[in-house]
Amino acid sequence: MEGGRGPPPETLEEEKQPDCTLPTSPEVSSLKKSNWGFLLTGLVGGTLVALYAVATPFITPAFRRICLPFIPATAKQVENVVKMLRCRRGTLVDIGSGDGRIVIAAAKEGFTAVGYELNPWLVWYSRYRAWQEGVQGSATFYISDLWKVTFSQYSNVVIFGVPQMMPQLEKKLELELEDDARVIACRFPFPHWTPTWVTGEGVDTVWAYDASSFRGAGRGPRATRFQVVIQIP
Ligand SMILES: C[S@@+](CC[C@H](N)C(=O)[O-])C[C@H]1O[C@@H](n2cnc3c(N)ncnc32)[C@H](O)[C@@H]1O
Repeated sequence: MEGGRGPPPETLEEEKQPDCTLPTSPEVSSLKKSNWGFLLTGLVGGTLVALYAVATPFITPAFRRICLPFIPATAKQVENVVKMLRCRRGTLVDIGSGDGRIVIAAAKEGFTAVGYELNPWLVWYSRYRAWQEGVQGSATFYISDLWKVTFSQYSNVVIFGVPQMMPQLEKKLELELEDDARVIACRFPFPHWTPTWVTGEGVDTVWAYDASSFRGAGRGPRATRFQVVIQIP
């Protein structure tokens, strides 16, 4: 009787689920893997290239003879520069203009302002910021090496430099600027010139030098003896 109770052999066959999946050949699965591999390599490679392109202009200043990195002026520093420009007008240049904040602030004060900057990303960003602030007509930015530019056409010169470059820049400006020019130094003063005006304190200190006075400095006792430095509160 035992054999009579069990399911008939046909029913057992019907309950079996047919396997509809195609057998994957090793070639197909390795092709899929290699596609992902290509995509991943492309993504990683692309990201690295983009990072390299963005980071290089920020890193290369460190390997130059004079290392002048991008350190933006503080709001107080910009305010002090603007203070030093009171009663001045005409053209202005920021040597190593960074993200353009000084040039834009000067343009807002009515100056025809120009920035020279080695880092192309910062120059493109500065142009965008000038456009955003509505001063694109009076704020211009160039990708240039400051040592290859002549500053003779500017009546106001701003520099936020580093101590190592100041003696060389001092000589360059002394040769190039007109007698009515004013040079404004942020954070680090020029080594030999005597400032006409000083304002701010600590890292926000700003010195103003009038070309008429630094032209005479060091060329006789008169200029150095009677130079008066005025501290603006
Ligand atoms: C200390 S930051 C000052 C930025 C800006 N002037 C400010 O006050 O916010 C100096 C800038 O000079 C730029 N720089 C460095 N070497 C340069 C060179 N040889 N010619 C032009 N710009 C340079 C740097 O990329 C950096 O943006």
